[in-house]
Amino acid sequence: MSTTDPKFDLQNLALPHVARLHAYTPGLQPGEPGWIKLNTNENPYPPSPAVAEALRREIGQDGASLRLYPNPKSALLRDALGRLHGLGADHVFVGNGADDVLNLLVRCFCEPASAAGFTLPSYSLYPVLVGIQDGRSLAVDFDRSMQLPVEAIAGSAASVFFLTAPNAPTGVGFRTADIEALLGRYRGLLVVDETYAVFAAENTADLVARHANLCVVRTFSKSHCLAGMRVGYALAQPAVIGLLDRVKDSYNVSRLSQTAALAALGDPGYYAGLVRKIRATRDRARAAWTDRFGWFTYPSQTNFLFTEPRDRTGRTGLEVARGLYDFLCARKILVRHFGSHALTSSFLRISVGTDEEMTVLQENLEAWQKTA
Ligand SMILES: Cc1ncc(COP(=O)(O)O)c(C=O)c1O
Repeated sequence: MSTTDPKFDLQNLALPHVARLHAYTPGLQPGEPGWIKLNTNENPYPPSPAVAEALRREIGQDGASLRLYPNPKSALLRDALGRLHGLGADHVFVGNGADDVLNLLVRCFCEPASAAGFTLPSYSLYPVLVGIQDGRSLAVDFDRSMQLPVEAIAGSAASVFFLTAPNAPTGVGFRTADIEALLGRYRGLLVVDETYAVFAAENTADLVARHANLCVVRTFSKSHCLAGMRVGYALAQPAVIGLLDRVKDSYNVSRLSQTAALAALGDPGYYAGLVRKIRATRDRARAAWTDRFGWFTYPSQTNFLFTEPRDRTGRTGLEVARGLYDFLCARKILVRHFGSHALTSSFLRISVGTDEEMTVLQENLEAWQKTA
């Protein structure tokens, strides 16, 4: 039950910028079964069997280990990630999902007098995190080509710039050589959010060793089928990692999350197989939508597709996209529509599901094409 007491004017007691804030809207997570969930880019496959096995071992018969706090620095995981990327553990930070890492970066670099930059469209959490700090946002616009706006980012006055690479929600990848050129010209910290990089042809992790102003953010959510465990990490020079260590929660990654991520790293062959499969499913779906429907879909370097549906009469636009969204929703297929930006409103973002899920999706798209 909620109570309001006129003695406590919480809107006035709270910091004004917090009272004004609009929270981030995550994709729907339906409670009941039976949905085909293609709206939040989760991996459609289960994690390596080694993960459940390691979790069972960690919990044991009676869960006694859960009494104890986890390692505060996720030390074993930092070591393992350092080895994976050919870096020292002092170049690695582990957080409660990539979102936590992004939040801490904003906390370190952004306040009313120092701005944070990001591209539009990209991940809509960035402006919310900036708002929490009462910071200033400096947005750089894409045009419909979705090519990297190198000049505008290089000239940005932001202390920190968030570049989603490959980009979301478009799925378009960027050339590492272009990002490296940008690093030489931009005067702030460039955070390359590589949430989807395992599905891409190129990434920037190898640049961390030689660029003081690069921070690469990764996650186990998509690549390692562990969105529910919340593990993300940053790769950067020790000076950046040291800042993140100053502002993190003491025990920011749970015992079970550390165990699951470590076990996942121990089975690279399993995950390489999933990445191959998801890329193949993705490329087949894009080809089918182009060939059968004539839809424009950006070439994707991720585990989702950003497509502009066309109705029977050839029309595209916000209403067409929304109509297809509603049609699919009524058939228990969830996708994502970003209606508030001119470059996204006529598109739907569709996560790559299992081959079976994509077959059901395709049947429903064909049914919509006949009626819409
Ligand atoms: C671009 C981008 N960055 C970060 C995240 C958050 O990842 P995590 O689940 O590790 O918090 C997402 C999640 O969808 C994303 O799309």
